Amino acid sequence: EKSIVVLISGSGSNLQAIIDAIGSGQINGRISAVLSNKADIFGLKRAEAAGIPQIIINHKEFDDREGFDAAMIEAIDAHQPDLIVLAGFMRILTPGFVRHYEGRMFNIHPSLLPKYKGLNTHQRALDAGDSLHGCTVHFVTEELDGGPLAIQAPIDIQENDTADSLQQRIHGSEHKIYPLAVEWFCAERLMHTASGQIQLDGTTLPPEGYQFIQE
Ligand code: GAR
Repeated sequence: EKSIVVLISGSGSNLQAIIDAIGSGQINGRISAVLSNKADIFGLKRAEAAGIPQIIINHKEFDDREGFDAAMIEAIDAHQPDLIVLAGFMRILTPGFVRHYEGRMFNIHPSLLPKYKGLNTHQRALDAGDSLHGCTVHFVTEELDGGPLAIQAPIDIQENDTADSLQQRIHGSEHKIYPLAVEWFCAERLMHTASGQIQLDGTTLPPEGYQFIQE
């Protein structure tokens, strides 16, 4: 059984989807701890309700990112994690932190990467007149939102969509593809190879990752 540490900064709906997928037996793993950089967020209540140990490390108590990240590494590694899951964790990580967990850290991002790295992805997709949008699970590397892609879920943009309606639909997709990526990783079916490629069941995935098409 793999040990998973989940990092959050907000409502934690993706954390909840992973908790539920462990509960249903989809994921063969356990969440050893949930780490947040903020104290009063709903995601911590979800962790508490699931009986998961919570770690709060306030980034504002550190002079620089290096100090904050070193404190996180110490707290995380006490749980001997096989996998780190960034689930709406809204701090930029130092290269040292990323290297420490290279090949075993996921992020989820609300766009079809490499499009729309950073924030306000839904509005940017609308402003560009895109007909396709979506979300992506990727392995984390030193380039912000730039690591190799594991799973993408595309959705169609409808004429009456707003940033809010897109965010809602994309949350729904996220809650499917994030547990799936964690499931595959824990079953050692999905891996980031030393040469930087992503393999699923021994086959190298294309740069856009596994395409999750919803019916
Ligand atoms: C998710 O939509 C995730 O894609 C996004 O934050 C949300 C967290 O929701 N992440 C980013 O924007 C990363 N830059 P949650 O707290 O309900 O899981």
